[in-house]
Amino acid sequence: MRIDVLSIFPGWFDGPLTSSLLGRAAGDGTLDLRVHDLRDWTTDRHRSVDDAPYGGGAGMVMRADVWVAACESVWNDLPPSVTTGDPDPPADAAYVAGGDRPRTLVLTPRGRPLTQALAAELATEDRLVLLCGRYEGIDERVHELVATDEVSVGDYVLFGGEVAAAVVIEAVTRLLPGVVGNDASPQDESFSSGLLEYPHYTRPAEVRGQGVPSVLTSGDHGAVDRWREDQARELTRRRRPDLLPPDAT
Ligand code: ADE
Repeated sequence: MRIDVLSIFPGWFDGPLTSSLLGRAAGDGTLDLRVHDLRDWTTDRHRSVDDAPYGGGAGMVMRADVWVAACESVWNDLPPSVTTGDPDPPADAAYVAGGDRPRTLVLTPRGRPLTQALAAELATEDRLVLLCGRYEGIDERVHELVATDEVSVGDYVLFGGEVAAAVVIEAVTRLLPGVVGNDASPQDESFSSGLLEYPHYTRPAEVRGQGVPSVLTSGDHGAVDRWREDQARELTRRRRPDLLPPDAT
């Protein structure tokens, strides 16, 4: 899968890619992650991506013309020089603002909540484009002309979309075939089944006086499966009853 990220802090994404399974997915070609500096599509010498809001008020708003130029360039693999400062779409571009375009997500607290189901849906795409906003917000015409989706990673406000984009990238990448090694394991865990995951234990058998549930060392695989199922159900009922069907609480 190819994922393009647009941000004014492209260096922010260097860290996650040099470690972990995400780095390996990028290294073996499963994930083609391309991070772009939004300022490459600015036209003035200050490389400004924002301006004062129409109607007044505090804070700055990210400019729609810069986002449109950046997206049309990235969607069509054209260099910034082709789209920057041009009010018209590039000639013969396959993808244009307001028209046919790759799945393009704006990360915003007002978006559709990211769930395992949405991650699974996004993992079926060939391409994703993630737009990381900053400041007070993004000009509404970016949402109208450029975004195909608005996605939130939770009911709290971050400084900007970078952390949220990293969450989307991780949640989606680990569902790509071969990334988690054992193809069965992503399906076996919290949320895929609709339940939280059961508790895990490994050696040593005792830590600071705390032992291991005896069923796990009983050798009775049927009993272990039943115990895990009960634990998952009970944990979900206590912590996240909203995940259970209405008649199961
Ligand atoms: N940008 C700022 N806060 C966010 C959130 N909760 N989800 C997605 N993008 C954001």
